[in-house]
Amino acid sequence: MDWKAMYAARMGQVEPSSIMQLIRVMAERPVINFASGLPDPAGFPVEALREAASAVLTDDWRGGLQYGEANGYRPLREWVAADLSRRGVPTAPGEVLIVSGSQQGIDLVARALLQPGDVVLTENPSYLAALQVFASFETAIWPIATDPDGLDVDLVAAALRRTDVKLLYVMPSHQNPSGGTLHETRRRPLLEAAAHTGIPVLADEAYLDLRYDPGDPAPLAASLPGAPVLTVGTFSKVIAPGLRVAWIAGPEEVIERLSLLKQVTDLHTNSLTQRIVYHYLAGGHLPGQVARLRAAYREKRDALLEALNRHLAGKATWTRTAGGMFLLLSLTKGASAGAVLPAALDHGVAFVPGAPFFPAGGGEETMRLNFVSPPLADIDEGVARLAKAIG
Ligand SMILES: Cc1ncc(COP(=O)(O)O)c(C=O)c1O
Repeated sequence: MDWKAMYAARMGQVEPSSIMQLIRVMAERPVINFASGLPDPAGFPVEALREAASAVLTDDWRGGLQYGEANGYRPLREWVAADLSRRGVPTAPGEVLIVSGSQQGIDLVARALLQPGDVVLTENPSYLAALQVFASFETAIWPIATDPDGLDVDLVAAALRRTDVKLLYVMPSHQNPSGGTLHETRRRPLLEAAAHTGIPVLADEAYLDLRYDPGDPAPLAASLPGAPVLTVGTFSKVIAPGLRVAWIAGPEEVIERLSLLKQVTDLHTNSLTQRIVYHYLAGGHLPGQVARLRAAYREKRDALLEALNRHLAGKATWTRTAGGMFLLLSLTKGASAGAVLPAALDHGVAFVPGAPFFPAGGGEETMRLNFVSPPLADIDEGVARLAKAIG
């Protein structure tokens, strides 16, 4: 076989992302962009990060520019462990691995755990880039029915009894793409089912802190101490994604194993950005930053919901997300969001068709709308254009 074809055969497991293609198209023409997966750059705490970077490069440049520990910068691991403990998940620093984005955390767990043919359970819909990780390990992905209160726990419990199921991947709070949150009453039964069978749950808490409605969800792992949960979290959504600093927490034996796998991938997460993030956190900036993001994103979420009511009532339904960055809009049954996209781009508005987020197919009538990325002032006009494209 030609060596280039070998790459094609292996990567054939991974669908090219329609989102990436869309981003390429949009780079060529200005649109009101509900398609992006990005946070609002206006929310990046650039002054505090500039100060943190300068302090690290002045006072700790040897550490910041040198190779570091595979597990991550110790003070940062201590901060994450203390923060998780405060949120009801007692965690020691040795139970935390710093990773280069939670995407890498998902990949490391998959590499540690999954063989071709294994089954991974997910929400339906689920996060596309996680589905792509699982697909790249030639696993079968089984989506479990998911309603506005999250996964159907009885179906999860039944599926976990199968011997070929090796992992449950779930975004407990404000998930991507629907914004849905696993209801408080479902959390403990879900973890009891996992504990009963010993199948690990990978809880992706990327959007935990982006809460706009009253009530502050805890990390899933807080619902049943000792349950087989690996928690992945990230500074991408509350500080800035370009830093590539995130973490995974779980039992020390598992973290040690993941750390070895990480070592063979990239030795360790960027020494400089880990220290910058730590300096920022130690300076006490995060609570104010989260409060500012919540206020700004809440206003945008509310503006989108109002605009949808104004322009699309009767033509579509949508999830009313309590947090996160996205909501999922559904056209009438039988309609195709993908077919609406060219007209939408012609009208100067972009969204991501929802179908790729549904691992077993379906969802053709859905579209994901990112409400944090467009400027507040564009949201109503964007939805008016979308309504014209839908017709
Ligand atoms: C649910 C979810 N998990 C993980 C990630 C990846 O984030 P990170 O920047 O930490 O790799 C994203 C990014 O969009 C996400 O939506």
